[in-house]
Amino acid sequence: MTGVALSHAELADAFRAQARGCALTGSPIYGALLERAADDVARGGLFADLVSSYRGVPMLDALPLRVLGAIHALVLGGRAPGLAAFYPSTGGRFEAEGAFRALCEVCDAHRAELREAASTQRVQTNEVQRSAVLVPGFLRIAARTGLPLRIREIGSSAGLNLFFDRYRYELGPHRIGDAASPLALAARWDGAPPDLEATLRVASRRGCDVAPLDVRDPAHRLRLESFVWPEQLDRLARLRAALEVAVRAPPAIDAEPAGAWVETQLGERAPGAATVLFHSVVWWYIAEPERARITRAMESAGARATSAAPLAWLRMEGSRLEEAELRLRLWPEGEDALLARVHWHGVDVRWVG
Ligand SMILES: C[S@@+](CC[C@H](N)C(=O)[O-])C[C@H]1O[C@@H](n2cnc3c(N)ncnc32)[C@H](O)[C@@H]1O
Repeated sequence: MTGVALSHAELADAFRAQARGCALTGSPIYGALLERAADDVARGGLFADLVSSYRGVPMLDALPLRVLGAIHALVLGGRAPGLAAFYPSTGGRFEAEGAFRALCEVCDAHRAELREAASTQRVQTNEVQRSAVLVPGFLRIAARTGLPLRIREIGSSAGLNLFFDRYRYELGPHRIGDAASPLALAARWDGAPPDLEATLRVASRRGCDVAPLDVRDPAHRLRLESFVWPEQLDRLARLRAALEVAVRAPPAIDAEPAGAWVETQLGERAPGAATVLFHSVVWWYIAEPERARITRAMESAGARATSAAPLAWLRMEGSRLEEAELRLRLWPEGEDALLARVHWHGVDVRWVG
């Protein structure tokens, strides 16, 4: 194991910061549990032992969520019935003191497994609700180009957003998408309507990820579910419905870093289709040299784009905690436009494009 061991005080700070973050952004349960776990870490207790082999930057890796995710996997997998009685995701009722005692029992009983997860298992999510933000962007591309879309995604995770055309949407008063889909995604909508008349046709779809998850693999599905917070029942239901849609025709996701993959994908010619590179909440994880490589590849392919083979770059990213931006750059013109200001989980869209 390389790297410097962190002090109990540093680790406790990371647990406290994550507790505040969870309490503020939708998980009072994790807020309460992590506050108590932070005190335990500061004392050098059970949680300090679980993260003792971890090396890295806890805030960047969301270390406390690694631990809680691994514990949630035990709960969802039926291996921690005591704690399941307190987690809404398994029909339980939360009460902080009892839940924390049960949490400690689970940690004690599965110490080796949780220690391993804390040092190696990255937090991995795939938020299908983001399709509600992305779909008006795809509609805009379809409206502008009149062509089928050749969809390419970087940082796909399990690829659930690659199937944006297989869901039904309620964007404020606007109804779009596949009316027969088992998954309805609703978002608040503010601003001019999306391009409702445009027809979405997907010519092909493919993604890449440094650590792709396979929707057919029960362990991977459990892993995705485990990183949903235990009181987010809507989110869990959406994830399960999206997995059902995806498993019927699993997405092709290459296990490759984005930089090299984008170059390969853009090297292939695709006349009669609009090539669309898209990503959501991925840019932050990509190091600067790889970002520059992607940008160069896009600009050089953009310079070769024509109205018969246009190129689009749709991204839901941002640098502010309060909101993300949906931006679209479309070649041959190469114009870059802010389309919307959006909630990071895709539940709010303020359309400005
Ligand atoms: C926060 S998740 C977002 C997943 C998905 N885009 C979504 O919106 O739900 C970030 C994903 O990016 C992947 N990732 C991180 N760095 C990457 C890189 N350099 N190349 C490709 N994928 C990467 C991670 O493995 C993870 O699946």
